[in-house]
Amino acid sequence: MRLIRPILLAVGVANLVALHTTFAQVRPTALPVPGLTREQQYAFEQGGMAFSRIYGTAEGLGPLFNDQSCMACHGVMAGSSNRINTRFGRSEDHGFDPLVHLGGSLVQSRGIGSVTTAEGSVLFAGESVPDQANTVAVRRTPTLQGLGFVDAVPDSTWIAIAEAQLAADPSTAGRVHRAFDAATGATAIGKFGWKAHVPTLRQFSGDALVSEMGITNPQFRDEPCPQGDC
Ligand code: HEC
Repeated sequence: MRLIRPILLAVGVANLVALHTTFAQVRPTALPVPGLTREQQYAFEQGGMAFSRIYGTAEGLGPLFNDQSCMACHGVMAGSSNRINTRFGRSEDHGFDPLVHLGGSLVQSRGIGSVTTAEGSVLFAGESVPDQANTVAVRRTPTLQGLGFVDAVPDSTWIAIAEAQLAADPSTAGRVHRAFDAATGATAIGKFGWKAHVPTLRQFSGDALVSEMGITNPQFRDEPCPQGDC
């Protein structure tokens, strides 16, 4: 187990860092586990730079965003940071409406400002919670430290843990959550996010790029629409 763990972390980190960006300005702040191969070390460094780089509009930032780097929110290594995201929606008797047509459920609090093209000028301002929302939730930014290990645990392990808990005591047994895996198009065990709705670090990273910074990527090709208006 001692030998396997560094390899597992490296695999997870390599997944985390595959952000499809080649910019390199800031050195990684986290240290890799010992014993990485050259390829794993390279992936770690590339990922660290993508994670800490401050993105501008030239690199695809906006038109809406919450901040300009992953580090800005996730810079605290041990414990959560003070950065808060706001989500909204409308709770009805028949269920929850994330009010996508009004820019929900995530508020992008900042915009890139005025943009002038041949067709005229557009002002991109940050979003606010619309009057139609009757549910507002804030989420504090968690630490990401060690999540490479979680990413590397195979689905069969989570299923086995849930089955063992069920056999021991059904009243307290945990259940695995099955989520959509964008890479395979199939369902996989959800491991990340408040609702365990994302199965891999790679998918969460692609989602965070587009949701928090407006940077499209191969997994997530549509930018958030300002207050739902594209
Ligand atoms: C504006 C602040 C902000 C920025 C910028 C941001 N995040 Fe997050 N991140 C959050 C918050 C808040 C959560 C918790 C909300 C949730 O899980 O739904 C979160 C959750 C996560 C998680 C899930 C953690 C877990 O324990 O399941 C991952 C992985 C993650 N972010 C990666 C990234 C990456 C990679 C970037 C950059 C591409 C990034 N984030 C940019 C605020 C931010």
